[in-house]
Amino acid sequence: MNIILAIFLFLTPIFLLLSWGRRSSKRLPPGSLGIPFIGQSISLLRAMRANTAEKWLEARIRKYGPISKLSLFGKPTVFISGQAANKFLFTSDSSTISNRQTQSIRMILGDRNIFELNAEDHKRVRSALVSFLKPESLKQYVGKMDKEVRRHLEIHWQGKQQVKVLPLAKTLTFDIICSILFGLERGGRREAVVACFQEMIEGMWSVPINLPFTRYNCSLRASERVQNMLKDIIREKRVELEHKAASPHQDLITCLLSIRNEDNEEALTVNEIVHNVMVVMVAGFDTSSVLITFIMRLLANEPAVYAAVVQEHEEITKSKPSGEFLTWEDLAKMKYTWRVAMETLRMIPPVFGGFRIAQKDIEFGGYLIPEGWQIFWTTSITHMDGSIFPEPSKFDPSRFENQTVPPYSFVAFGGGPRICPGYEFARIETLVTIHHLVTQFTWKLRADNSFCRDPTPVPTQGLPIQLMPKKQLY
Ligand SMILES: *[C@@H]1O[C@H](CO)[C@@H](O)[C@H](O)[C@H]1NC(C)=O
Ligand SMILES: *[C@@H]1O[C@H](CO)[C@@H](O)[C@H](O)[C@H]1NC(C)=O
Repeated sequence: MNIILAIFLFLTPIFLLLSWGRRSSKRLPPGSLGIPFIGQSISLLRAMRANTAEKWLEARIRKYGPISKLSLFGKPTVFISGQAANKFLFTSDSSTISNRQTQSIRMILGDRNIFELNAEDHKRVRSALVSFLKPESLKQYVGKMDKEVRRHLEIHWQGKQQVKVLPLAKTLTFDIICSILFGLERGGRREAVVACFQEMIEGMWSVPINLPFTRYNCSLRASERVQNMLKDIIREKRVELEHKAASPHQDLITCLLSIRNEDNEEALTVNEIVHNVMVVMVAGFDTSSVLITFIMRLLANEPAVYAAVVQEHEEITKSKPSGEFLTWEDLAKMKYTWRVAMETLRMIPPVFGGFRIAQKDIEFGGYLIPEGWQIFWTTSITHMDGSIFPEPSKFDPSRFENQTVPPYSFVAFGGGPRICPGYEFARIETLVTIHHLVTQFTWKLRADNSFCRDPTPVPTQGLPIQLMPKKQLY
């Protein structure tokens, strides 16, 4: 085993040197490719775990400027940063820069997922996902989401004096995903999916060395199990649809199964449905739960923000018959709360960054990005740029008033034609959850404010809080 690894590590640099040698005449960005294959992966991952990844990036920019080369997760990479870089990346067409995740992510989530597809395939799959995730369709699920949130709070929060926010937020977002996206109700099956799913996502940011003891291998095996479970669910739903026992609008899977092409065949293959359902799970699970957790942390630290949020929600409660579910119109009134969420996303973006691939030799900022190299972008550089967001370390939700944020600088949801299609879903889920939390409870933090990145931000001990119920208003 170690011999295989040694040979592998020995051969990789030779291949890479051969391929780099061809282009040595052109001007590559500054920086070093580091140790072959591993490159700077370990160093970046270590910085993320220590929550110093932003400093790690800033140090890089100080040393080499906003464009530099390095090697990450097995590939030569160019790191680009700043508003112009974001615009360039998000608006280039896929014959120049295509979407391509690292090998680990691609192998774990499957090669037909939307992050991997380009051109016509990307349009077809994206439009299928959007047909479910667009506001006009999601509107009808607000009440159902509200029901899930209430049930979750009854079981896991009410009557408790101390809770840990992050694990509960994960349970909640997973329950919402299972119910709204997969029509998978409570019970053993949901639990089996969640267990495999957790294991699967652990290896997404890992060095792709497929040996039995690696995180990567463990995630690949979990991914196979998740895919098999999803295939079972798809088979069952297809039968239900044929017998009209399920409706196309019931959940994401029935919706994707019901989309037809010109020949009246299913427009998406089974693998496309499976891989994209996994992407939606990953994207929706980690990101929204982190957002909800960090809003809870913020509200504990900033009493004035908490008071303003509470006021917004109590007005909505007062305007409704007691016990009635929230509606789309109620969510439209939660403007301040959503600005608080946006500012939280700016300061602590759940997504650290992403990867693309150069489809041809590209010139950017006076440097060459060679064909086949990875391009690495990150959210924090523009989010914390004082020339875009004055006093960037200050929490100030009014930054998001009146649409004054310049384009391609707030990139928590990406940008351009590939901007996150789950934006609206995340907004509904977050607002409904915060509504019930602030109208039912006040809370105090029971640990310090520190967190690490793995690769999403994880607060110390999962953010334990002391929970105090409010007097019921009704
Ligand atoms: C995990 O590693 C074992 C041993 O090398 C290998 O046989 C297996 O195929 C790997 N699993 C996956 C899913 O690649
Ligand atoms: C946004 O617009 C309103 C009304 O014009 C104004 O009162 C407010 O100060 C503006 N906010 C910011 C942050 O510019």
